[in-house]
Amino acid sequence: NGANLAPTPPMGFNNWARYTCNLNEALFVATADRLVSSGLAANGYRTITVDDCWMTGSRDAAGNLVTNSSRFPHGMKWLADYVHGKGLQFGIYEDAGTSTCVGLPASWGHEQADANLFASFGVDYVKLDGCNVPPEPGKTQEQTYHDVYAKWSQALANTGRRMVFSESAPAYFYIGVSDKRDWYKVLEWTPQYGQLWREGDDMGLAEYSAATQWSTIVRNYDYNLPLARFAGPNAWNDPDFLIPGSGITPDEARSQMSLWSMMAAPLILSTDVTALGAAELAIVGNPDVVAVDQDPLGAQGTLVSRNGNTDILARQLANGDRAVALFNRGGSSATISTTTATVGLPGGTGCTYAVKDLWTGQSSSGTTISATVPAHGTAMFRVTPGATCAGAQPTGQITVTSG
Ligand code: DGJ
Repeated sequence: NGANLAPTPPMGFNNWARYTCNLNEALFVATADRLVSSGLAANGYRTITVDDCWMTGSRDAAGNLVTNSSRFPHGMKWLADYVHGKGLQFGIYEDAGTSTCVGLPASWGHEQADANLFASFGVDYVKLDGCNVPPEPGKTQEQTYHDVYAKWSQALANTGRRMVFSESAPAYFYIGVSDKRDWYKVLEWTPQYGQLWREGDDMGLAEYSAATQWSTIVRNYDYNLPLARFAGPNAWNDPDFLIPGSGITPDEARSQMSLWSMMAAPLILSTDVTALGAAELAIVGNPDVVAVDQDPLGAQGTLVSRNGNTDILARQLANGDRAVALFNRGGSSATISTTTATVGLPGGTGCTYAVKDLWTGQSSSGTTISATVPAHGTAMFRVTPGATCAGAQPTGQITVTSG
């Protein structure tokens, strides 16, 4: 991890949750154009990644992956060049096993060749999925995943090209697995090999109902919340894509953006970026919220308290400020309140705090942080200590059982 490839959480676009295998060159060209013209790229959304289904069903005679030319007529190098020409970064998908999740050729036994091919395309970011990793004699599945992700990490380093490495391995040790010990073992090694790693379920695909999408957001939040100790610069827990504009309501989209930013999560849009309206752009492009996500300290926020359907989260920020979120997962509005002391800001004589509501833009001063939060909504604040305030303390953290 010494290469400082992702000092703050990666941001950008991936086609999967919105388009699955309905992808082509025109989609990525239009998305790159719109990321720039909408201002999202200037706000940090700069890595554009092609997920599964970009290749044909077999390797060529030399053993290389073959780009599907009816979907990508100019090839991947051309697309990477186009993306680079827009000032963006180019990402690509492969799988560590014997075939990808949809059954296309994966990289088992071809790690160095595939890494070299990606470097020759001009790839800046590799997402390595974990479907169809075969059992190996004498090894646990956790050891087999370890060895193949380690091998890929070395293969990427061997190319000499700087490529961010996104590891899907942890997601294969949680869902449907009752004993979570292997999941934690995986998280002990992912930071050695890559800069971010997937947790939890896949975000609702485009054809799922808005209710399913919302429940996946909440479930992945619950999976990701207890993992703060694994996060830091170049080491990010990834609870999957942002899905504004997919059917979820504006309050739900604001919640996802708030919670992901509190958790220092990658902000990777999987939606029709060309169709995002002013309201959605204002949500995912909110510079104050993005600044919390991208805070250089890289401390993942933690749960300070939970009361029924309401959660209070706090996150330490590099300049001594504190981000605070009040999340209401319930179906009716709730008033949620906390104090600066509760979120680790001790006060002292003459100390006042500036409390900025990052969604309304309004500022107040005092020691109470409170809001009436709509159903499925989140209020988010940045709290700045005045000059005479005592030093900030570590944020309290209560233990939650994930899932
Ligand atoms: C499973 C992953 O979790 C998804 O994000 C996507 O990459 C699909 N596989 C592709 O088959």
